[in-house]
Amino acid sequence: MSLMGRNLITLDGWDKQEIELALEVSFDLKRRFIKGEIIESLKHKTLFMIFFEQSTRTRNSLEAAMTQLGGHAHDLTSDKMQITHGESPKDTAKVLSRMGEGIAIRNCFYQIGNRYLNEIARHSDIPVISMQDDVYHPLQAIADLLTIMEHFGDNIRGLKVAILWAYATTHAKPLSVPQSQILLFPRFGMDVVVGHPDEFPLQEDIVHKAKRNAEEARTELIFTNDMDEAIRDADIVIPKNWGGFAYFEEYTDDEEHNREMKENLERHKDWICNGKRFSLAKRDARVMHALPADRGNEVTDNVLDSENSIIYDEAENRLHTARGILELLMGQ
Ligand code: CP
Repeated sequence: MSLMGRNLITLDGWDKQEIELALEVSFDLKRRFIKGEIIESLKHKTLFMIFFEQSTRTRNSLEAAMTQLGGHAHDLTSDKMQITHGESPKDTAKVLSRMGEGIAIRNCFYQIGNRYLNEIARHSDIPVISMQDDVYHPLQAIADLLTIMEHFGDNIRGLKVAILWAYATTHAKPLSVPQSQILLFPRFGMDVVVGHPDEFPLQEDIVHKAKRNAEEARTELIFTNDMDEAIRDADIVIPKNWGGFAYFEEYTDDEEHNREMKENLERHKDWICNGKRFSLAKRDARVMHALPADRGNEVTDNVLDSENSIIYDEAENRLHTARGILELLMGQ
């Protein structure tokens, strides 16, 4: 099986065996990284990373991965390129395809990002990798899956994962992390409960697809608007804000809509994963967060810094899965 030349915009476009291969290669590369082995599977290869938004983990994991595997990553932003002057996705894709071996893009603009990535992919002759868009964040989801397997072993069937909307004020967080998780986790045997206030739903088409995935895998995917109910007896707890786009005024200039969304958000200040709430989960439950976390709003320090927290393993695994994915898509 080869993934060479494939795009990664959503893991839902990959079959289970392909994802298992990516996990296997990532685990192997992690073991070799720990041993200090020099690997040059991407020697002289170039990845173009185009960021429309800020990033700590995605930027540094991919750039470090390229360097460690003997290649190079260009750390670009839309305003470093002619994108800001309106250069078309087609021209950008065609030109970069003549110069390197991979294009990675982060564009989370609501109802724009995923379309932009697909348009680039349509015209690109080299793999296009999502570094997060408004709908999906595949690199986060696969790192999460690998982290869960490390902590719970290969047999993760029947684990209960609570994916919880949480209050935040730092910045508008896309839907892409919880959406990628609900699409992926049930395929690998986990039962997922999503807790969110009615005003902050996930995309209907994604929920529909995720329910189909769960049915096919004979797992559960359920939704509730009760945070405590969602967290009760969970093995894994993932508290994270999503979807407050209009609250952050860059997303819309409709003042009425902004006001309404701000009120919705403020009404749910109590959606926080604190110690009392976390204690409803199983005693040895793990807390995960893709980071950056809005500490004190989404989740309290005593939960995030507790022995149950695996947030830094999760962040570290962004490197190992980036190495695995890049080697598979851009290697040879
Ligand atoms: N989790 C994640 O994608 O982090 P960054 O936004 O820092 O890349």
